[in-house]
Amino acid sequence: MTPKGEVTFMASYKLLLLPGDGIGPEVMAEVKKLIAWMNAQGMGTFETEDALVGGSSYDAHKVAVTDATMGLADAADAVIFGAVGGPKWDSVPYDVRPEAGLLRLRKDLALFANLRPAVCYPPLADSSSLKRDVVEGLDIMIVRELTGGVYFGEPKTITDLGNGQKRAVDTQVYDTYEIERISRVAFELARKRRNKVTSMEKRNVMKTGVLWHEVISALHQREFKDVTLEHQLADAGGMQLVRWPKQFDVIVTDNLFGDMLSDVASMLTGSLGMLPSASLGETDPKTGKRKAMYEPVHGSAPDIAGKAMANPIAMITSFGMALRYSFGLATAADLIDKAIAATLAKGLRTADIKSEGAKIVSTSEMGNAILGEIAALAA
Ligand code: IPM
Ligand code: MN
Repeated sequence: MTPKGEVTFMASYKLLLLPGDGIGPEVMAEVKKLIAWMNAQGMGTFETEDALVGGSSYDAHKVAVTDATMGLADAADAVIFGAVGGPKWDSVPYDVRPEAGLLRLRKDLALFANLRPAVCYPPLADSSSLKRDVVEGLDIMIVRELTGGVYFGEPKTITDLGNGQKRAVDTQVYDTYEIERISRVAFELARKRRNKVTSMEKRNVMKTGVLWHEVISALHQREFKDVTLEHQLADAGGMQLVRWPKQFDVIVTDNLFGDMLSDVASMLTGSLGMLPSASLGETDPKTGKRKAMYEPVHGSAPDIAGKAMANPIAMITSFGMALRYSFGLATAADLIDKAIAATLAKGLRTADIKSEGAKIVSTSEMGNAILGEIAALAA
């Protein structure tokens, strides 16, 4: 942030906004307000462009993301993504289902590192289904591998066996380099946090688990001996996550386990509506830049879409992660976190995090309140 009157040169950044389906556009609207405010304050110079993704893209173009939109995503400094999917598109062909748009963005932009922080704001400790002392003050980071594993492994088929039976195959594949680069991200993050990494796989039944364990252990020995490395089988890890989550600092795991474990972790924070994420590519050694997409972990929530009930916090904190990881604006990102804590402390809640005595507010009322707190804190 710049004190008023000081003249600075601020780089201009291009953001591609992909609101998507369901509550996606509703929560994205709150981020748009924040971007406009930051631009007006001189806290950033963001140029934004909107495009379709998911079901809304399918309706307009018969694909979940167009080549033109992929081009915009590739050229942007960061992509800010809402959510995709809904019952309306249940019967569209598999290759063009809404989720295919999201998966193509992740794969084609090579966003292999998915950071999913689970932070329990103190006023929300009672919104969790777990006891207050289990979640109060929780701050963990799930690092999910995002471009490999069973999501993308080939073959991926359903074959008619001709005898009234069909056979479905998904393939879990990991190469050494994929395990190594995601492990490196986890170790480097841990060094800036509480210096502990827990690796989760199922080496007791899966070859990919055996390799995962071998590769991360070797990397640890070679480059990260100063970081504590623990291993848990992914099923036991899921249990530990709800038994005593504060034992964790950084959890690193594959694409599918990471998908499941991060949904579990979201309830530690009070609601799925609280979890942001950053999906990052490799840093280009020449430019120092990396491709990045920021999206809330929650989906399109078709059941509450259009009702102004959605919680915009995960979308807003996802933008906060963009400020932190893509634009080096950590102070502004901290400001957003503080503003959210202050808004929650005043008793404002969207329906998903309601508690006794709290004031239930709409999506835009929550967004406005947070923006008000940001402005007050920045003044
Ligand atoms: C997520 C979502 C996606 C995933 C879906 C929408 C394809 O659940 O980001 O966690 O499975 O990765
Ligand atoms: Mn998921």
